[in-house]
Amino acid sequence: MKQYGRNIIQQGDALELLRSLPDGCTPLVFFDPQFRECLDKLAYGNEGKSRQKDRHTLPAMSSNYIDACCCEIARVLTPSGYLMRWIDKFGLCEGIHLRITEPKRVDLISWDNGRMPGGNGWRSRYCGDHLLVLQKKPKAAKATWRDHGIRDRWIEKVDRGVHPHAKPLGLIKRLIAATTHPGDLVVDPAAGSFGVMHAAIELGREFVGVDICAGF
Ligand SMILES: C[S@@+](CC[C@H](N)C(=O)[O-])C[C@H]1O[C@@H](n2cnc3c(N)ncnc32)[C@H](O)[C@@H]1O
Repeated sequence: MKQYGRNIIQQGDALELLRSLPDGCTPLVFFDPQFRECLDKLAYGNEGKSRQKDRHTLPAMSSNYIDACCCEIARVLTPSGYLMRWIDKFGLCEGIHLRITEPKRVDLISWDNGRMPGGNGWRSRYCGDHLLVLQKKPKAAKATWRDHGIRDRWIEKVDRGVHPHAKPLGLIKRLIAATTHPGDLVVDPAAGSFGVMHAAIELGREFVGVDICAGF
């Protein structure tokens, strides 16, 4: 089985990375899968328009593949470990990836990207995604979450120049600090800009992650 390096940007497949990791090796996994259904549903995936070109060139994952990743994540998490799962409003409202029963949903943080709303949406305007906080058994808050100042409406601008789907690093840092200890392993199997890696290293944590497009 392929070995993956720590604290480096590397190309690879999310499911293969997760399958290579031992049981219970990490208290924290971030997962921000590339999922096309929302864009397709909204007819937002207009490949002819250059505005969204960068998003469409990214390889997408099927629902079954995302579910398989979540099952592997449940295996690699320590007891009471967290999965921070980014999800868009279509996925959230339709319950697209909510079939998985373990880890369990324990919280939701909605991210406002602080920008003038774009053109997405037939009704309300898109201003950012959502972060589902899921926890492996046994559910435990006090011993596993040390920062109670994290608001569940999080406003933060991101530099989309680094990646079309870059997520808020300020929030990510707070979550890493709240739920892990120095030396712990943080995992991101679809790392995009590898922002989670930079945050983890800055906080003295170990990181392992891949992206299918890293290095291209
Ligand atoms: C939504 S983006 C992640 C953005 C990241 N959270 C950030 O802050 O930069 C999803 C990423 O999944 C990657 N991807 C798609 N299929 C993949 C696969 N099978 N294995 C690993 N990465 C994959 C895409 O290349 C894309 O960079």
